[in-house]
Amino acid sequence: MTDPGKPDAAAERARWAASGAAWDRWADSMADPADRVNRPLLDLCGVTAGDRLLDLASGAGEPALTAATLAGPSGLVVASDLVEPMLAGARRRAAANGAHLAFSLADMTSLPFGARSFDRVTCRFGLMFVPDDRAAVAEMARVLRPGGRAAVAVWGPLEGNILFRELAAVLDRHLGPGALAGLDVLFRHSGAGFLAEVLESGGLDGVEVRHLRLSQGVPADRPFWKATLDMAFSPALATLSPSGREALEARIAAHFAGLADGRGLVPVDMHVVLGAGAAR
Ligand SMILES: C[S@@+](CC[C@H](N)C(=O)[O-])C[C@H]1O[C@@H](n2cnc3c(N)ncnc32)[C@H](O)[C@@H]1O
Repeated sequence: MTDPGKPDAAAERARWAASGAAWDRWADSMADPADRVNRPLLDLCGVTAGDRLLDLASGAGEPALTAATLAGPSGLVVASDLVEPMLAGARRRAAANGAHLAFSLADMTSLPFGARSFDRVTCRFGLMFVPDDRAAVAEMARVLRPGGRAAVAVWGPLEGNILFRELAAVLDRHLGPGALAGLDVLFRHSGAGFLAEVLESGGLDGVEVRHLRLSQGVPADRPFWKATLDMAFSPALATLSPSGREALEARIAAHFAGLADGRGLVPVDMHVVLGAGAAR
């Protein structure tokens, strides 16, 4: 299969180094919705008390913080990320919550851990940003003990992810297509069968894929879209003046109000693909 949105390593490093503050700012208020993905992901990974778990691309701590509660005091959870600014949120939240987490700066294609060091590896919304995604999966397989499991979460197609789809439509109309730079990378693994192929060719056995479709009616008069706008489109927003940003946000609010049903609720649908496999 051809790779539909292979990212550029330098652009990704720059994107994430500049995004840490926005992710940390939203992390606590987004913790409950984040857990609706974390729990099925950790369940598919088979996490239990006492596990040694490596979370890749942890960002501000999802799902590492939830994993730490499942692994418990007899386990070990290492939260890792490519860049320190993204990991800063995870460090702050772990300290605030008294969570038992270790931290490591790590590019997931070249992990600073020995072979067979972990029982579980997780990666939530991170694999798509790695140019050589198969090399990242091979590293997951290398650091797992035989029979240990890795589980990843990636985005399903853009059409099934209302927040991204509608924000992209407004930004495209009002800021031009340049504002959507990097968006295709987010949906890189959404094609049918593509994630399974990446996990298998990286060396995982017994690969299984599940589709998680979440839906929630959210009051149109609440700015429920602001976190996604800030976190996913921060490079495009950085070029706007304060009044330009205000005008854009007014357009977005009006756009979502137009999608509300008779009860004033916007149907916020999400489609996430979970994939898992075991090390040999
Ligand atoms: C969309 S965020 C996901 C953060 C968190 N897992 C979550 O779901 O909230 C993507 C993360 O991938 C990290 N990342 C990108 N390329 C990476 C690489 N090659 N190795 C490790 N982490 C990487 C970024 O720094 C960023 O923190």
